[in-house]
Amino acid sequence: MRVKILKRKSQEMRLFDKNEWPRYNHEHFGKEITWDTQIYYVKVEENSSILGTMELKVEAGVGHIKTLLVKKEIHRKGVGQLLIQKAKEITRKQKGHKLYLTTGKSWKAVTFYEAMGFKISAVLPNHFFGVDFVEMTKFF
Ligand SMILES: CC(C)(COP(=O)(O)OP(=O)(O)OC[C@H]1O[C@@H](n2cnc3c(N)ncnc32)[C@H](O)[C@@H]1OP(=O)(O)O)[C@@H](O)C(=O)NCCC(=O)NCCS
Repeated sequence: MRVKILKRKSQEMRLFDKNEWPRYNHEHFGKEITWDTQIYYVKVEENSSILGTMELKVEAGVGHIKTLLVKKEIHRKGVGQLLIQKAKEITRKQKGHKLYLTTGKSWKAVTFYEAMGFKISAVLPNHFFGVDFVEMTKFF
């Protein structure tokens, strides 16, 4: 036996996963499932300049906001809210039932997400760069 580390997932590994994962479907989910993953890159722009961006991954009924960023000069003008609305819309279209994300426990973003209807669902102590993070969730 030996362990190999690859830079990219090989075709052989893809095939292995494709064949092996379904063997656990009933044990894990109680039914047959197809694990779909879609990634969306969303931008808000005005006069050809970007005001805000979001990366959203929707998989297996769950929307994961991976990044959300609004240009500093135009905070509190509703751009963040617009992006959250879009995340919800996209996730719903994929028959999703919730949105979640992680953010710094003491960051102002927590108040923003609470205003958007998210609740803290987990604390991630000593997380990225040793800073405490929280997981926040919003169910539809
Ligand atoms: C968090 C962030 C995306 C919010 O975007 P935004 O466009 O400023 O937010 P909105 O204008 O849509 O705010 C909607 C509501 O959220 C709340 N809110 C937003 N920012 C807030 C803040 N700094 N303090 C308190 N409440 C806040 C308010 O209730 C606000 O409504 P109001 O302005 O009518 O009171 C933006 O501040 C940002 O890009 N921050 C830096 C990057 C970051 O931290 N991203 C999130 C990390 S995962």
